[in-house]
Amino acid sequence: MTNHRGRVAVVTGAARGLGQAVARRLAASGATVACADVDGVAARKTAEEIGANGGRAAGFEVDVTSEASLAALREQVHAVLGRVDMVMNVAGILDRRQMADTDGEAFRRVIDVNLTGTYLTTRAFAADMTERGWGRVVNTASIAGVTGYVYPSYAASKAGVVNLTRSLLVDFWGTGVTVNAVCPGAMDTEMLDRSAIPAFIRKTPAGRVVTPQEVAAVFDFLAGEEAACVNGATIVVDGGATAVFRYADPEPRG
Ligand SMILES: NC(=O)c1ccc[n+]([C@@H]2O[C@H](COP(=O)([O-])OP(=O)(O)OC[C@H]3O[C@@H](n4cnc5c(N)ncnc54)[C@H](O)[C@@H]3O)[C@@H](O)[C@H]2O)c1
Repeated sequence: MTNHRGRVAVVTGAARGLGQAVARRLAASGATVACADVDGVAARKTAEEIGANGGRAAGFEVDVTSEASLAALREQVHAVLGRVDMVMNVAGILDRRQMADTDGEAFRRVIDVNLTGTYLTTRAFAADMTERGWGRVVNTASIAGVTGYVYPSYAASKAGVVNLTRSLLVDFWGTGVTVNAVCPGAMDTEMLDRSAIPAFIRKTPAGRVVTPQEVAAVFDFLAGEEAACVNGATIVVDGGATAVFRYADPEPRG
């Protein structure tokens, strides 16, 4: 049983989907949670709901691509909840287009949110953790980051998150801060094209898509005391899908 009592976590993407599930799960394990999202109204709703269920949380608006926005978030979180022990990078976008239908600006946007946003958010709270000699960073990659995938900007951004995760170990060497990546398989959230779910299920040994709650349970473990020696790892939570197929297969395209 994880116990995050006395710890403060920042969860990006907390307005809905996986980020919301991570925020709820960490709060249920005792953490005080800063629910952060570009949709500040929905992030505050997540926090209110956690509060109504007996947890401690506050909602904040942030754009993870903006250093100024992240600096403001840090100030607000310090003022309202205190210094941060855990950074859960969940915010992300998917551009469901292939190369011929897109351009450099669209490609850069996905890299900016998914990869640069993960880097900037971690950087914004790094000193909080290193000064205290303890910290947890959990990044959201995807199975599209460890296989080829039909949407190049997304796959490139998520492969980047996997190797960013390994490489940040050098920055955090000997500080008590661990950095890991979780690679969810298809989850039934707003990001997924739901019409593709049957195709995913056909290629998943578990016989169904993964739930955000199942993925959040892995975040919860990685954020905890017992995961101290899990560091630089890439943990796939996909019902067995990538063990038996590649996303570069002509289908599914979710
Ligand atoms: N749904 C899936 O099948 C799936 C599979 C693998 C990985 N993922 C990853 O899981 C994470 C969560 O996705 P989800 O499925 O919950 O999708 P979602 O679209 O429901 O949630 C994404 C959240 O990120 C927020 N966000 C987007 N841009 C932002 C920005 N610039 N700053 C702050 N917040 C921003 C959105 O407002 C939204 O609340 C993403 O990183 C996604 O790539 C999802």
